[in-house]
Amino acid sequence: MEARLRPTTRGPAAPHTVILTGAGLSAESGLGTFRDAQGLWSRYNLDDVATPEGFARDPALVHAFYNARRAQCLTAQPNPAHLALARLESAWGDRLLIVTQNVDDLHERAGSLRVLHMHGRLNEAFCNQCGDHWPAPVEMAASDRCPTCRAQATRPAVVWFGETPLHLDQIASAISGCQHFVAIGTSGQVYPAAAFVQEAAAAGATTLELNLDRSDITPYFDDVRRGPASTLVPSWVDEVLGGSPAHGDSP
Ligand code: OAD
Repeated sequence: MEARLRPTTRGPAAPHTVILTGAGLSAESGLGTFRDAQGLWSRYNLDDVATPEGFARDPALVHAFYNARRAQCLTAQPNPAHLALARLESAWGDRLLIVTQNVDDLHERAGSLRVLHMHGRLNEAFCNQCGDHWPAPVEMAASDRCPTCRAQATRPAVVWFGETPLHLDQIASAISGCQHFVAIGTSGQVYPAAAFVQEAAAAGATTLELNLDRSDITPYFDDVRRGPASTLVPSWVDEVLGGSPAHGDSP
């Protein structure tokens, strides 16, 4: 039986505001999005590089794909949007929870502590045989052995299509109890994250989308702002920290 990915981050119990982030947040750090015209899924076949079946067929190809993304991540820097969210967390503490679909570590490098990586992390490796996790080397290979059980069954600790995202219980509980839900830089095409806005609204939260373009889930938000994350996010954070209730009641 395949060992399961293990959640590695504990989050707070009762956040006031839940922020869902996607690839658009890291776009201005130079990391590619998935579904834009030049996005990763226009250049790679998702079934080949982001499914357990693709990995079973050609692990070298999948490792090459994630090795390239890991190397790119190492040279990328958090942009003003990541930094603004870290500033918000400094002010709000555990009243804020970031749920990210991103596998990069730019939230953490910006200073955010309360981040749930629902699609896993590029900088972590995982053994399909024994379930152990460890920091990923920059270059992973199919011949790598697990440091614990020595099996040649190592993989990036990212969630592939057909696998269950991480932290879902914690995320569901946070969304059902939050008062504000904000989505930043996500196309709303991948579930379960795409359903979070409706779940938050059903639980009574106000909802805000900050995105460059219209997304598939735009109709479900109370408030929508268009533009690049590097300007939209700092300006929204200034508003909520400055006390002007730009998005519902000031938390
Ligand atoms: P997508 O590539 O699907 O969507 C990125 C969104 O960000 C789009 O709506 C863009 O308009 C927007 N965007 C682009 N640049 C932006 C910028 N500078 N500022 C603000 N918004 C910008 O990425 P995700 O929605 O994150 O999953 O994709 C979700 C999941 O699909 C990923 O986690 C990944 C992918 O397949 C897995 O690999 C499991």
